[in-house]
Amino acid sequence: MMMELIKIEGGRPLSGTVKIDSAKNSTVALIPASILAESPVTLENIPSIVDVERLGEMIEQLGGTYRYDGDDDEDFIIDPTNLQNIPLLEGPVTQLRASYYFLGALLAKFKEVKIGMPGGCYLGPRPIDLHLKGFEALGATIEQEGGTIYMRAERLKGAKIYLDFPSVGATINIMIAASKAEGTTVIENAAKEPEIVDLSNLLNNMGAKIRGAGTDEIRIQGVDRLRGTRHAIIPDRIEAGTYIALAAAAAEEVKIDNIIPTHLDALISKLQEMGVDIEINTDSVTVRGGKALKAVDFKTSIYPGLATDLQQPLVTLVTQSDGVGMVEDTIYSDRFRNCYELNKMGANIRVQGNSAIIQGATPLRGARVMATDLRAGASLVIAALIAEGVTEIGNTYHIDRGYSNIEEKLTNLGAKIWREKE
Ligand code: UD1
Repeated sequence: MMMELIKIEGGRPLSGTVKIDSAKNSTVALIPASILAESPVTLENIPSIVDVERLGEMIEQLGGTYRYDGDDDEDFIIDPTNLQNIPLLEGPVTQLRASYYFLGALLAKFKEVKIGMPGGCYLGPRPIDLHLKGFEALGATIEQEGGTIYMRAERLKGAKIYLDFPSVGATINIMIAASKAEGTTVIENAAKEPEIVDLSNLLNNMGAKIRGAGTDEIRIQGVDRLRGTRHAIIPDRIEAGTYIALAAAAAEEVKIDNIIPTHLDALISKLQEMGVDIEINTDSVTVRGGKALKAVDFKTSIYPGLATDLQQPLVTLVTQSDGVGMVEDTIYSDRFRNCYELNKMGANIRVQGNSAIIQGATPLRGARVMATDLRAGASLVIAALIAEGVTEIGNTYHIDRGYSNIEEKLTNLGAKIWREKE
């Protein structure tokens, strides 16, 4: 099989503006949630990432349709009118983790669902026990056999659900399922990420009654019917944070535009602590490079803390800072595979359990490396932009799951990046 590589010739200072796309992690919840409507749902500014295509294919497998519209195909229209309850066992369902949102959506719509276990990035164990406990509390019975989950419910009834951990996925899945349950569901210790507020806005515009999204207690009063609507997806704070870290490493002056800076407070404070020159405006930030950076320690945590998805991009920046930085990922235990690849490029990182100790600053040089998961890919792209010589990054499909038009965006900033098959 031909392998595709992203190649980057490093060492060019970047300048200009990069416009951030809509949030992947919102989009992958909004598409499954849309099937609860009885008429078409339009999602505005759909990001052009592979996960969207896969979720579209799953809508088609279920007998629904989707199409792109608008001058730049920026609208994504889902028509769930003829949707049927067809088991999703093969193909796209296994290729992304977010396909598990069809568990909540199909359970709410048909009271019965059969689905293959979701795929996605390996970041250490990623159980879905909290999702399943939530569905059980709403009245579902669950059978698991091999890689398949089968759930059904006579009726879905609102319940009080306390999450042992404020899981993003479990909060979203329970919100989706409970929006059509009888009576009121209360999710306690709910996740507070901005994507949850975005989903709540979509569902409420479809006719749901959800209050409290963005706090740790969400109340969902079930309704019988939901209708189609138009919804503008929030900007991708992780894509934004990646380009901010990238600019801090490689920019002369780069404006990261179309973002909600408050979603990035924890990252911005950390970068300021490192000595990054960053100017914050209403819906953009501007990063100016060329300053000496000092190493910092950081820990990932739930929102509004520093996002685990930004941990890997930040590690690359710490390799360019003076001193020793200690990074702990409290959300995922095995999200450090990029460190071994960075070491091939000249970094000095020691991984110990769920922590990494980084000795900086070390010059980086081009090497052949693998994007072991999505954000690891981002971490390597940043490294490649500042390395001497050409870096070849394999497993590009991981990067394409979450970063839309990455070559175009980086080329516009003055980077030398291209793809080759071999
Ligand atoms: C989502 C994001 C991912 C991000 C993560 C944390 C999507 C598609 N993905 O993933 O990019 O890194 O939030 O912000 O939105 N857990 C359990 N049992 C469960 C569910 C989760 O033990 O039933 C644990 C997980 O193993 C992990 C922690 O809870 O250690 C956080 O997981 P969760 O918030 O659910 O992340 P995801 O929704 O999978």
